Amino acid sequence: MSDNFDVKLDTKSYLPDPSVKEDSWMGDYEKAYDESVKDPEAHWEKVAEELEWFEKWDRVREWEHPYAKWFVNAKMNITCNCLDRHVFNGRKNKVALIWVGDDGEEQVITYRQLYREVMRFANGLKSLGVGRGDRVCIYMPLVPEQIIAMLACARIGAVHSVVFGGFGSNALRSRIKDAQAKIVVTADASLRRGKRLDLKSIVDEAVVGSSSVEKIVVLRRMKPQMELFSEIEVDFYEIMEGVEKECEPEVMDAEDPLFILYTSGTTGPAKGIVHACGGYMVGTYYTTKNMFDLKEGDVMWCTADPGWITGHSYIVYGPLAMGATILISETTPDYPDPGVWWDMIEEFDVTVFYTAPTAIRMFMKLGEEWPNKYNLGSLRVLGSVGEPLNPEAFEWYYRVIGKEKCPILDTWWQTETGMHMLTTAVGEPMKPGFAGRPVPGIVADVVDENGEPVPPGTGGFLVIKEPWPSMMRTVYNNDERYRQYWNSINNYYAAGDLAVKDEDGYIMILGRSDDVLIVAGHNIGSAEVESALVSHEVVAEAAVIGKPDPLKGDSIKAFIILRMGYEPAEKLKLDLLYHVRMNLGPIAMPSEIEFVDSLPKTRSGKIMRRVLKAQELGMDPGDVSTLEE
Ligand code: WTA
Repeated sequence: MSDNFDVKLDTKSYLPDPSVKEDSWMGDYEKAYDESVKDPEAHWEKVAEELEWFEKWDRVREWEHPYAKWFVNAKMNITCNCLDRHVFNGRKNKVALIWVGDDGEEQVITYRQLYREVMRFANGLKSLGVGRGDRVCIYMPLVPEQIIAMLACARIGAVHSVVFGGFGSNALRSRIKDAQAKIVVTADASLRRGKRLDLKSIVDEAVVGSSSVEKIVVLRRMKPQMELFSEIEVDFYEIMEGVEKECEPEVMDAEDPLFILYTSGTTGPAKGIVHACGGYMVGTYYTTKNMFDLKEGDVMWCTADPGWITGHSYIVYGPLAMGATILISETTPDYPDPGVWWDMIEEFDVTVFYTAPTAIRMFMKLGEEWPNKYNLGSLRVLGSVGEPLNPEAFEWYYRVIGKEKCPILDTWWQTETGMHMLTTAVGEPMKPGFAGRPVPGIVADVVDENGEPVPPGTGGFLVIKEPWPSMMRTVYNNDERYRQYWNSINNYYAAGDLAVKDEDGYIMILGRSDDVLIVAGHNIGSAEVESALVSHEVVAEAAVIGKPDPLKGDSIKAFIILRMGYEPAEKLKLDLLYHVRMNLGPIAMPSEIEFVDSLPKTRSGKIMRRVLKAQELGMDPGDVSTLEE
């Protein structure tokens, strides 16, 4: 994007009842924000003081662009804050996790139970030779054991790399390989809409030829239990038997890595975003408490899978650091009927509900009669994440689900940022279509390509100007890629999103400035889908674009040049779809495939996806001076 462009801003706003603000942790947002940015170190230090550390920091922050250290030389273990702190301070028998499976099965786990299970699994991992710094890949369905495995890694200082259970074998293989995972923790199957999806066989394919994987730990949830064959396979619960009950937390430096989480990039393979123990803990704890305004009696339901950053931060680490009760569920929103989620809200008195615009738009389509059948009166705060919450969806969410009394937080953030960066604090005026203003401690702006702020109403690049505790520390095996985030626009952190600000400082996200697609709230790199397509024997070249979709945000369209000797056919399209599904998983499947004879390219041979997109949408392709022909 070279020219600035103007955006018309709808300024309608909604104001929650004044009591929301009076009763909130944050109180007045503007006051909290101004104080936080006057002295960010003091701000974050105050937050860190609320948590437990083995040893406190020498300095709050060390910033040598583009590298930041937070809570320098502090010693800690995040699980002490997520578990021990509660078990030994009055929350021992408080419910930590409520799980509802795809078939309606329930499990309720208290803090004491979670603490015990985590320590036993941690000792089980140790018995397999896992230690500090080793990478453990977790590829599981949404079951409590997924969270137990994550926390067990953190307990012993192993670095988890959770891969969403919907990914296919190639996606899993490349992530295992990049992280050089020593262990893969998986399950026999996940359940979805009453159907069994085999996970273990995907792992088997993914580890063929792996030089790093030593053991595969398998949770066997299906009856009859699947057999384990090769020597490297062990049962999830068996490794927990005969081990010590207690597992002392590993003493971690605040800057030690806590996890790697892969996210799609513009080009090339997925990037392994690395987060550090201390800063990540402080950032997720702060935002869970202050943005969701989480209170002792709350029941929080974040509908994401822990396999995404949203699940890491707002199912696992943030809420558990707060000692909250969290609901997790393997269910899909419309199975067995479109009332299941609302039924669960009523059944478990959910107070804080966090979901994605794509789900909200689906519910809108299904009709108000579904939520209206249930008592949603327990709800207090509603959240949204993953893509812009368009004004129609905002209004529906506000009126039909929140009954015009719940604040709605459209939270903008990224795998890389670790925590919420922009949203509207509870009790502040909400503007549909806008993510909102920066979280206290965050300095965000909309700028041109030189880093100069653009005036309100003019589109530009969204940047973060100052480091924050839960920022990623590097891209695993690719520090160069990390530096690019901080080196492309005037030494600011460039998020890769286009945005516009209004007169009040509210920021609206306009979409990605690169070739990342957001399909149903999931980041998908066009490059990844293209390389999956090209790996099929009939494909010579492939280009993938996102087309605006009323439900999914983007839908994927693929343009394919066939190899000599192959003719376009419907059957081929199905083969290609199946191929992408097996390679990358169902979320990356194109909705449309078109066979073409050529693709628009630059003289240097790069596919110009924006030209394809403009053609597709009947728009002006902009500057095409670099086009080959
Ligand atoms: C997009 C998810 C608009 C954005 C937490 C970002 C959003 C990418 C919003 C990160 C939002 C996320 N409004 N766009 N509220 N939230 N995005 O890493 O393009 O899976 O850069 O993190 O999703 O996706 P990721």
